[in-house]
Amino acid sequence: MKKRIALVTGGIGGLGTEICKHLADAGCIAVAADLGSRPERLAEFQDEIKDYAGKIFFEPFNVADFDSCAALIKQVEATHGPIDILVNAAGITRDTTLRKMSPQQWVDVLKINLDGVFNMCRNVVDSMSDRGFGRIVNISSVNGQTGQFGQTNYSAAKAGMHGFTMALAREVARKGVTVNSVSPGYCNTSMVRAIPENVRSQIVASIPVGRLGEPSEIARVVAFLAADESGFITGANIPVNGGYFIDF
Ligand code: CAA
Ligand code: NAP
Repeated sequence: MKKRIALVTGGIGGLGTEICKHLADAGCIAVAADLGSRPERLAEFQDEIKDYAGKIFFEPFNVADFDSCAALIKQVEATHGPIDILVNAAGITRDTTLRKMSPQQWVDVLKINLDGVFNMCRNVVDSMSDRGFGRIVNISSVNGQTGQFGQTNYSAAKAGMHGFTMALAREVARKGVTVNSVSPGYCNTSMVRAIPENVRSQIVASIPVGRLGEPSEIARVVAFLAADESGFITGANIPVNGGYFIDF
């Protein structure tokens, strides 16, 4: 059977890299699409995937720009074939209390974290529906479920992803396309390492399992949802947060 083609936005980030590896281990061709704005991170990424020659590829793009997303998808389709799996993992934080938040900090977070999901899904959904198969996994956050001090922008974007996920899941359910979200808790990546140490240690102390999550603990859930066999799971949100927020 032809290998599934997976496109992972934020693909060279802490979670994205591990997601690409898990998808490649599951037999997919994974394309890590990312801004690639930090040459040192890109070099680290190339080193981390050196055992994945011919299985993981890098493509630069800007998820906040609709035309850039359309061009990326065209490029990936021309090089590798139609996209079977889309993982939306590109994201940023601009944490500050609302009273100090600039309109730019609001717009930047919404544009990358939420508009980016629209930009990508809008450009792949027709092809997936026409071919009768697709897996879309949106990386949301526990902070989209609970809210977080200093994150009105980010919590709004991540909560918005849940609504988007449920609505699109209904639209494409009969076309063989599933749409789900994963809501990680605090994980060991540069995004969390950037939180001031005194604040971060308080957060870690409040996680019931007593530690940050590892990127592989998120990636294995993404790979599970992306599998051919997961066709009956759609419109769902899977929390992976060490017990930080328990819902039913
Ligand atoms: N809860 C309640 N009160 C808090 C608080 C909290 N979590 N954090 C700060 N405060 C208090 C401060 O003590 C201060 O009190 P006083 O005025 O009485 O002294 C008041 O709120 C306001 O403080 P400031 O406006 O001066 O806030 P600041 O500028 O110092 O910092 C902040 C605010 C930037 C939000 C900082 O608290 C912070 O970085 N918090 C971490 C936010 C966070 O968890 N981000 C997650 C990033 S990783 C991620 O997002 C991944 C994911 O999905 C899980
Ligand atoms: P990360 O290491 O910072 O990775 C995010 C990646 O997205 C980075 O490589 C970043 O590139 C890229 N990116 C930013 N803006 C972009 C743009 N405009 N176009 C394309 N790519 C862009 O963060 P992470 O921890 O892996 O987070 C991945 C996703 O999981 C995010 O959506 C995040 O909100 C979510 N999440 C993370 C955690 C956690 O604890 N780590 C928890 C819950 C949810 P640059 O570095 O060049 O900006």
